[in-house]
Amino acid sequence: MIFDRSENKEAIALLGAGSMGTAILRRIAAGKKILLGDISEKNLERVSQDLRYSGYDVETCVVNALEKDSVEAFAEKAASLGPVMYFIDTAGASPNQASPEHILKLDMVGTGYAVDAFGKVMGRGGAGLIISSQTGYMHRLPDEVELEILSTPTEKLMDIPYIREVAMERSGIAYMIAKRVNHLQAQKAAATTWKERRARINTISPGVIVTPLAYDEFSASGEGYQAMVDASAAERCGTSDEIAEAGAFLLGEHARFITGTDLLIDGGVIAAIRTGTYKLGI
Ligand SMILES: NC(=O)c1ccc[n+]([C@@H]2O[C@H](COP(=O)([O-])OP(=O)(O)OC[C@H]3O[C@@H](n4cnc5c(N)ncnc54)[C@H](O)[C@@H]3O)[C@@H](O)[C@H]2O)c1
Repeated sequence: MIFDRSENKEAIALLGAGSMGTAILRRIAAGKKILLGDISEKNLERVSQDLRYSGYDVETCVVNALEKDSVEAFAEKAASLGPVMYFIDTAGASPNQASPEHILKLDMVGTGYAVDAFGKVMGRGGAGLIISSQTGYMHRLPDEVELEILSTPTEKLMDIPYIREVAMERSGIAYMIAKRVNHLQAQKAAATTWKERRARINTISPGVIVTPLAYDEFSASGEGYQAMVDASAAERCGTSDEIAEAGAFLLGEHARFITGTDLLIDGGVIAAIRTGTYKLGI
């Protein structure tokens, strides 16, 4: 049985075959060619099988988001499959999963490698989405540091004094800063490399979304998370499907005027923090 005879399909690359990324794919990938990238072969096998059994056309690629060459090879592989019209980056580690250095190298530098690499292969009219975090709103960077980040190439981000001195202190701070840098990376790409290819790029900053990563966070800092979620307007955690609805919108044709921006989807956590309804215990 041949399920799909179409040729010259558009390619969609997902870096980090996790819960939110695959939920987005299920909304936009019918009739397209998916390239799934992840460091874990086990994840790739499980997720690709699941998607194939749901009718999607999937290829897999082992990729380490920490390594520039690996990410570039991933982008080139995506381009070899068809015009790359969508790129989604969800590869990340959370505070209770890794050291400050690992978080900065993966969530900040690794994301930068991916934005740079896909900035060379995106098709005209294509769109990208980086999954950042509500924590990107929890630690305000001084204006001069943001300007320095915007003008620093990805390879040199770890050398910025503020990153070396403040971000390396603790995994929680490293994560907040890395996720704020994701917003800046999307702004920069939207105005430069991605703009030149007539492609758009945005970020989503989710609140607490129930995924394997969130289970790790809850088992390590459950009480703090519970208090934060209880103080939010939604009074609950979110689901990957709720993030995917917004992701599909930002990647789709109704969002053609939206680029270089962030969409915070947190059930009201940041509103609670900003208004003092909830006091963040950093
Ligand atoms: N779950 C939440 O509550 C939450 C909230 C805000 C932001 N986020 C962010 O969303 C993104 C996705 O998180 P998720 O909850 O879907 O997690 P997930 O664990 O389901 O997915 C993350 C994926 O990244 C992969 N990965 C890890 N290191 C990698 C590397 N070096 N190279 C390639 N792939 C690698 C993992 O194998 C995994 O498949 C992350 O960036 C996370 O920081 C999550």
